[in-house]
Amino acid sequence: MSKNFTLDTASLISPDISSNHTPSTPLKLGIMASGNGSNFEAVAQAIQAGQLNAQIQVLIYNNPEAKAAVRATNWGVEAVLLNHRDYKSRAKFDGQVVQTLQQYDVEWVILAGWMRLLTPVLIDAFADKIINIHPSLLPSFKGIHAVEQALAAGVKITGCTVHLVCLEVDSGPILMQAAVPVLPDDTAETLHARIQIQEHRILPQAIALAAQRQLQLTSKG
Ligand code: GAR
Repeated sequence: MSKNFTLDTASLISPDISSNHTPSTPLKLGIMASGNGSNFEAVAQAIQAGQLNAQIQVLIYNNPEAKAAVRATNWGVEAVLLNHRDYKSRAKFDGQVVQTLQQYDVEWVILAGWMRLLTPVLIDAFADKIINIHPSLLPSFKGIHAVEQALAAGVKITGCTVHLVCLEVDSGPILMQAAVPVLPDDTAETLHARIQIQEHRILPQAIALAAQRQLQLTSKG
């Protein structure tokens, strides 16, 4: 199966939206990541390329060794380590996350590989303004190891989803999805790598779309 098939399928489901869908005031983003941070990088690149009218106010990361922190520093973005292991409860941890996001004047929260469950403390503080990226076509394969789950289920098409976050895990309103065929010899690594190509494409677009929808809702009063 050719690489083109992947891209064609993806664009049928998530057609490219142009930058004129982005509101004129730059969106103030707070990105949260636990690991590699390639989605952080994709958002930063989209901003630099003028495809997303936004600025990254801060990166919050929870694992001291997360490569996302190095990427943020390279982009001149402040990286704040909040290690969940230092907090007595999820709610207390999220309280500190909220305080940090507010301190950096964040408007939209982007979960870009954030591998922690959220409590109402965070969800209510940024109601309808938290966006998550997940490596499956939700509602299939929620939770951890989504790529491995798809392989184990034997599906022929999987992909990624960008959605608004609600209390139930991986369940909020879907903003964008992209499909990726599963190839016969795929491993979790090879499949995830192709899914990530689509993640990097749709995450910046979905952020713009969410902001545009919010703007329309607000202007309708
Ligand atoms: C991404 O594939 C993202 O979809 C996934 O973690 C990866 C982070 O990659 N998120 C989840 O599984 C959340 N349930 P990155 O650190 O290279 O951006």
